[in-house]
Amino acid sequence: VTGRLIFAANWKMHLGPDGARRFFDAFLPAYAPRADREVWFFPPAVSLPAAAAAIHGRADIRAGAQDVHWERSGAFTGEVSAELAREAGATLALVGHSERRQVFGETDDMAARKLRSILAAGLTPLLCVGETLAERQNSQTIAVVQRQLGVALAGLEPSALGRVVLAYEPVWAIGTGHNATPAEAGQVHREIRTLMAAHGGPGRARVLYGGSVRRANVRELLAEPELDGVLVGGASLDAAEWAAIVQSSVTPR
Ligand code: 13P
Repeated sequence: VTGRLIFAANWKMHLGPDGARRFFDAFLPAYAPRADREVWFFPPAVSLPAAAAAIHGRADIRAGAQDVHWERSGAFTGEVSAELAREAGATLALVGHSERRQVFGETDDMAARKLRSILAAGLTPLLCVGETLAERQNSQTIAVVQRQLGVALAGLEPSALGRVVLAYEPVWAIGTGHNATPAEAGQVHREIRTLMAAHGGPGRARVLYGGSVRRANVRELLAEPELDGVLVGGASLDAAEWAAIVQSSVTPR
């Protein structure tokens, strides 16, 4: 699959089972498979079965959890494990999204434990890293990404590292309408790849960019060869808008 672009939709706390079914009823006829790309969806956990049923038979489209607990099962009221998400139809899971870190107090260590449980369950992890505005203004961008990745990847075998897909999501770009420039993102993506390789991972890890990606800027962003795809929030909620985004003409990787 390396070399294929990834267009990932993070629906956050939007689109329940009915909304998800309506979305796929509109999206699937508007988007035929393309050999050079995959489309990933992260619906709310309650919509995973509806999403998985809708995309059944489309090998180019996958669905996953937005978050998981690090234990397989147990007395953890309100939580969903990677195993349970898989049973509900997930083949992917987001981990370490900045909203988990900022709004729900998720630490680097918690993200690391979640990452291990996702790998153990046989799902593909999409690990998110990125700095806040204050951290960028204090020239801490690389240090922050280094710390987040260092804790998450510590001790993982090369075979596990090879399964980890990364997303660079600068917090100041999320939901603000102010995306990183292709050059700004490209520079951090290069650094992320270097860090991944230094941990014993693949020489060219897959790295997506997220933060205010829209139909209007997706082509310019993906013209930067350091970007292997995009992770999109707001602009992924409308089937027509998302169909336009995933059909963007992009130079093959
Ligand atoms: P927006 O595309 O709404 O800025 O959200 C980005 C994001 O957080 C995706 O995970």
